[in-house]
Amino acid sequence: MRLIYILPALLLTLQASAGEGMWLPHLLKALNESEMKSMGMKLKAEDIYSVNKGSLKDAIVHFGGFCTAEVISSQGLLLTNHHCGYDNIQSHSSLEKNYLRDGYWAKNTTEELTNPGLFARFIEEIADVSTDVLKGVTPGMSAAEKQSVIDINIRNYKSKFTLDKFHELEVRPFFAGNQYLAFFMVRYNDVRLVGTPPESIGKFGADTDNWVWPRHTGDFSLFRIYAGPNNEPADISENNKPFTPKHSMPISLDGIQEGDFTMVFGFPGRTDEYLPSIAVDQIMTHSDPAKIAVRDAALNIMNKYMRNDESTRLKYASKYATIANSWKKWIGEAKGLKSTNAVGKKKTFEAEFEKRAMKAKQYTGLIPQFNALYTANLEASLVRDYFSEAPNRNIEMLRLMGSLRNLVQTYEKSGEKDYLKMKDRLSAFMQEFYQDFSADIDKEIFVSLMQICRDNLAKKYMPASTEGKSFEVLGDVLYGASPFTSWEKSSAVLGKSPQECIDIIKNDPMYQMAMEWNEIIRLNVNPEFEKNRRQIDSLQSIYMKAQMELFPEKKFYPDANSTLRVTYGKVQGYKPKDAVYYNPVTYLDGVMEKYVPGDYEFDVSQKLIQLHEDKDYGPYADKTGKLPVCFLGSNHTTGGNSGSPAIDAHGNLIGLNFDRVWEGTMSDINYDASICRNIMVDARYVLFVIDKFAGAKRLIDEMKLVHPKGKKMKKKVK
Ligand code: ARG
Ligand code: ASP
Repeated sequence: MRLIYILPALLLTLQASAGEGMWLPHLLKALNESEMKSMGMKLKAEDIYSVNKGSLKDAIVHFGGFCTAEVISSQGLLLTNHHCGYDNIQSHSSLEKNYLRDGYWAKNTTEELTNPGLFARFIEEIADVSTDVLKGVTPGMSAAEKQSVIDINIRNYKSKFTLDKFHELEVRPFFAGNQYLAFFMVRYNDVRLVGTPPESIGKFGADTDNWVWPRHTGDFSLFRIYAGPNNEPADISENNKPFTPKHSMPISLDGIQEGDFTMVFGFPGRTDEYLPSIAVDQIMTHSDPAKIAVRDAALNIMNKYMRNDESTRLKYASKYATIANSWKKWIGEAKGLKSTNAVGKKKTFEAEFEKRAMKAKQYTGLIPQFNALYTANLEASLVRDYFSEAPNRNIEMLRLMGSLRNLVQTYEKSGEKDYLKMKDRLSAFMQEFYQDFSADIDKEIFVSLMQICRDNLAKKYMPASTEGKSFEVLGDVLYGASPFTSWEKSSAVLGKSPQECIDIIKNDPMYQMAMEWNEIIRLNVNPEFEKNRRQIDSLQSIYMKAQMELFPEKKFYPDANSTLRVTYGKVQGYKPKDAVYYNPVTYLDGVMEKYVPGDYEFDVSQKLIQLHEDKDYGPYADKTGKLPVCFLGSNHTTGGNSGSPAIDAHGNLIGLNFDRVWEGTMSDINYDASICRNIMVDARYVLFVIDKFAGAKRLIDEMKLVHPKGKKMKKKVK
């Protein structure tokens, strides 16, 4: 009798839930094609990934290595998120030409703006090289021995290929080192800014709405790949011309409906889906809360100053957004892990794992070993969390001391010539640093964060020089005495002779305290941490292999590691809490509902208000005459998937991925189909903004707009 109750529950946890998984594009045929078809996909696996003919993958690029973008015209036009293009947009902006505030639309290709350092990288081919890479690796080897064999094998493998500077080959581990794949890539270094909406569209809702549904952000921007005269990859040059891609993605004007098949194709950065329950428990009850508490305090202080003073707000806006982005994600993650009972589910899985291991007489005892190692490592890893969040990040003066230490070490180890080179780089960095820095705010953050560290860390992990001292008093002393609280003072120091400069740095009590703390971590925390970590990593590698062998009925996908993946699901709403259901689509009407005139997060431009009043949506409205803005899907995405195309059953673009819902951010650790949703901008909103809002008709003209659902165009695009 009992079995009947247990079995369905167990099956539920074993099956990768619909939507879960970041799949390797070259394995879709074997692993996913039939399921994708059963969910409504009309494509074949080789339409998505093929080496021999143009396929969807030929329209996907790793954008600068941190986001995804897709080619949407035969002239190399690239679509990505506004937040992915943000730094480049900002670098072209000034008070007179404020592209962040006002948007920018190049009227022709000559007005498209170059971005040194930005690249677009395509995947040409993926090959399984596990046999080559793992040759000579034996079970008895230590982790270090194993790694050195692997490193040599990878080097040997790579040496078989001669590559020019635009072609790259990378070999990467998958499934915790049980599989190795080679990626042949081609890189284009001339990627120009073509167009961007103003922040009031591209970043509408800013930090308040970040990670939140319902969402109304038009988070997109347009770039273009330029290639050499023969369409070959090239560095930035006047002779370059728009790139002709192997494939560009048609854009659907037919939109989406709840239940429609969706697929997201891009470069997810990092996930940890196969951790033991104890690791998940430690993230949820220790690591996330510690990091959240430190950032809570820092953000509160920044916010107080930002709300009081406009120039402070401008200075701190970008910093605040970056710090708040992970902070808010961790809060959602910890809550989601708890509310979906992730630890309990992992424990149920582990019980079954142990049972099967006993039966197979292999892999027994892994879970207790994990428990022992993670327990032993908890203290060190928590100290490192506080250390990395407080002195190494959010107390900016202490963080700056780390850069000064590099200068000191360069001088002492490599001499004056290298010192001077390093000093030039450091000066440039510091000059920029102080533009967005206020010593008063930082001092207040220092006082608050030092206290948090003192309250949470054993005395031996705090700098002895702070013992028994009030941090208020200490803050006054350190910030009062340091010659590095402003660029004015710092540049005077850096202008002195090398020896004098080094002496001043080393005599600064702020520097001394930072170094004292650094040494505690280096000598008393890291060795223990790294020793445990190495053992955990090799155990994880065995555990991964064991899971795959003992659960042959389960389909496994490798954790994200910034390589190209396909994830698929459906357009789907969700139930965030009792009695509440969220619809999967938002509309322009919702933008107007959120409108707060003059507010820096929720202002709306007059032009958009007018278009809304006139219902002047061109062919981009849905059947009911409303203009869709964003929609939700059950696609399994993570950081790095930003800018990834949302693709329909036929291979057309229907949207642009840019975020996830807050309740489901724990999908990085434990995907749960009930509340994990990705957020996409509707392609029709993107087109509407380009066409109706910006009047950039020339861009619409180079795209291929299609009607896969067979509807006739209501109106010709004006
Ligand atoms: N949460 C999204 C992601 O992790 C968007 C971040 C950009 N937006 C922001 N307000 N910081 O990257
Ligand atoms: N916003 C993330 C990104 O920039 C995507 C996510 O974490 O869902 O890649």
